[in-house]
Amino acid sequence: MTEIVPEHHQPAAVWAQRYGNALMNTFGPPQRVLVRGEGAWVWDADGARYLDLLAGIAVNSLGHAHPTLVSAVSAQLGTLGHVSNFFATPTQVHLAERLLEVVTPGGAPAGSRVFLANSGTEAMEAAFKLARRHGEGARPRILALEGAFHGRTMGALALTHKAAYREPFEPLPGGVEHLPFGDLAALEAAMADDVAALVLEPLQGEAGVRALPPGYLAAARELTSRHGALLILDEVQTGMGRTGRWMAHHHDHVGGGVVPDAVVLAKGLAGGLPIGAVVALGEGPATLLRPGQHGSTFGGNPVASAAALATMHVIERDELLTAVTERGRQLREGITALAHPLVTDVRGEGLLLAVGLARPVAGEVARAALAAGYIVNPVAPDAIRLAPPFILSIGQVDALLTDLPAILGETSA
Ligand SMILES: Cc1ncc(COP(=O)(O)O)c(C=O)c1O
Repeated sequence: MTEIVPEHHQPAAVWAQRYGNALMNTFGPPQRVLVRGEGAWVWDADGARYLDLLAGIAVNSLGHAHPTLVSAVSAQLGTLGHVSNFFATPTQVHLAERLLEVVTPGGAPAGSRVFLANSGTEAMEAAFKLARRHGEGARPRILALEGAFHGRTMGALALTHKAAYREPFEPLPGGVEHLPFGDLAALEAAMADDVAALVLEPLQGEAGVRALPPGYLAAARELTSRHGALLILDEVQTGMGRTGRWMAHHHDHVGGGVVPDAVVLAKGLAGGLPIGAVVALGEGPATLLRPGQHGSTFGGNPVASAAALATMHVIERDELLTAVTERGRQLREGITALAHPLVTDVRGEGLLLAVGLARPVAGEVARAALAAGYIVNPVAPDAIRLAPPFILSIGQVDALLTDLPAILGETSA
């Protein structure tokens, strides 16, 4: 009989070879072939178990195979799996309403609306189109920051800073300028009435978990408002509870109470199903895209929407925002207390952390961690990113803290 879902029971080496023969080489060779997950654990094809401290890069907020998520997704797929956007579904409507509630702590401004997409880059693409529509041609400039990562499709890529990602695909949509990171004077100098939007990540995840300096976001809000430009926050990686608040900009020391014009979400939003969202705050930003100006076959898909609702429900029911704050503190304080000579700092917020290293050995550290049963990410040559599931236990953090000195000790001097 033809294989529908392939048998897992082949050695990892066989899968790795089949992967290389069947998939485009955009990611390099896979580190392991994973076949199963439960809670914060995953297992590879050879039966080895790993503590997943990366969670699909800040995606699996509830860990793997969470029963509430599994049953919500199964129930929705068994009821109504997909419809075209010529029709509405209650699930999609509920999700948009819930997002309007969580994105602004005091309630979304009147007229706020949501666009649902399928990934972070697609949501950023929609945000880019909002910026283009704003000012209707009289505002050709869009400002972003050095170090920014906003995705890989052409509009999102134009906002992304890294030359190696951009240059092979030029020409990209024009008008984007990258300003020095966290430099308020540079922002003031660049801001003018011909700017359509300023696009910021409250913490730059891909740049090594780097926070904007205190006061920057509030000043950015003031400047964009003064010049009539949109302030678009990319919370794809930082949003939906990852930092211990629903949005990273909700922390006083990050956002200073700012209300942006649009917030972009994806990653953890649906706990592992593909989804993205643009939450446009206020009637102006929410009506920039008119009927026919944007669309998506899968955007608002009921199964992805049900997954997002279930994820948000569990985060609230199980008080996981508090758990994120507490486990984040435990990790940060525990790693700092090791006083290991290779560790320079532990930075970030909640469960989006980076361990800074004194030498560019993050790749070696990540390989040693994997061999010891921990999935971590060498986000920069000198930084290890941790973005574990929100359900990580005290004991699991303790286990890492016990094993970390040996893992760090395995790097070359
Ligand atoms: C801040 C930010 N924006 C956008 C994206 C793109 O999201 P996706 O990979 O879902 O397209 C990412 C992905 O890492 C991200 O971290």
